[in-house]
Amino acid sequence: MKFAGSVALVTGAGGGIGSALGERFHDAGATVVLSDRAGAGVEAVAERLNARRPGSAHVVIADVAHEEQNARLVSEARQLAGRIDLFFANAGVGLGTDLGSSETDWSTSFDVNVHSHRWAAKYLMPEWLAAGQGYFASTASAAGVLAQIGSAPYSVTKHAAVAFAEWLSITYGSRGIKVSCLCPQGVNTAMLRGGDRQGIDANAGNVVRVAGAVLEPAQVADVVHDALVEERFFIFPHSEVGDYVKIKATEHERWLGGMRKLQRRVFGV
Ligand SMILES: NC(=O)c1ccc[n+]([C@@H]2O[C@H](COP(=O)([O-])OP(=O)(O)OC[C@H]3O[C@@H](n4cnc5c(N)ncnc54)[C@H](O)[C@@H]3O)[C@@H](O)[C@H]2O)c1
Repeated sequence: MKFAGSVALVTGAGGGIGSALGERFHDAGATVVLSDRAGAGVEAVAERLNARRPGSAHVVIADVAHEEQNARLVSEARQLAGRIDLFFANAGVGLGTDLGSSETDWSTSFDVNVHSHRWAAKYLMPEWLAAGQGYFASTASAAGVLAQIGSAPYSVTKHAAVAFAEWLSITYGSRGIKVSCLCPQGVNTAMLRGGDRQGIDANAGNVVRVAGAVLEPAQVADVVHDALVEERFFIFPHSEVGDYVKIKATEHERWLGGMRKLQRRVFGV
């Protein structure tokens, strides 16, 4: 993919990984459409980018937990920027813990972490297929290819996000549609710090910190930029995640044992 002259839309762009992605794509010459919920601060990110290049950053406020808001997001973005070349479904929530997680935590996790991806794709795809091109990227997590100790809803929905991205690639890849899936471990954002109401539980956050390095959002955005230029499906900013995936596939019992050990280390049981 070439960023210069393209239109890139990022959800969850009010802060964290999303604002870093928007800024990185903008630096590479894209016009960006930044989207987030009301009050998430996305306007300030756009203002900063427009100060560098007037008219190059648009804002669409949308709560992606609802199908109709995804439909509106896609149509408003197309009106504002002319088209969407890259749609980056990055908005996510880190809700819930164990079997006692509330039904609301489960349903919100599915709505934001999974259904928003398919709702967006549903409204993007007709135009993309007619044009024979389009790029759909999503932020899942290392939890989507491994597991999130301490949060069943996060673990399950991030696996579903990876599965949906793979399905898209398999179904539309031969018709010009590119798909990538970002799977980081720890990144220094509100979600990991737990400062946000929808941030990950403190214990689950501790697991992430114990598991490996916590990267800055800008470091992740650099890796994502390069991966999209190369049109690679999996994006592992923590390279060890690729190694763990291999162990999980070839020595599954050993992998489960190692994960139980990590669970005991953080939770004591
Ligand atoms: N921080 C990490 O360690 C880490 C690791 C792996 C994956 N991720 C994933 O990265 C993505 C970005 O998270 P982040 O770490 O930057 O945290 P963050 O909390 O800074 O960003 C999440 C963004 O999603 C937005 N969002 C949540 N619900 C929404 C909704 N219903 N509609 C629209 N926007 C909504 C939030 O407003 C926020 O701006 C998420 O999908 C997250 O699961 C984060």
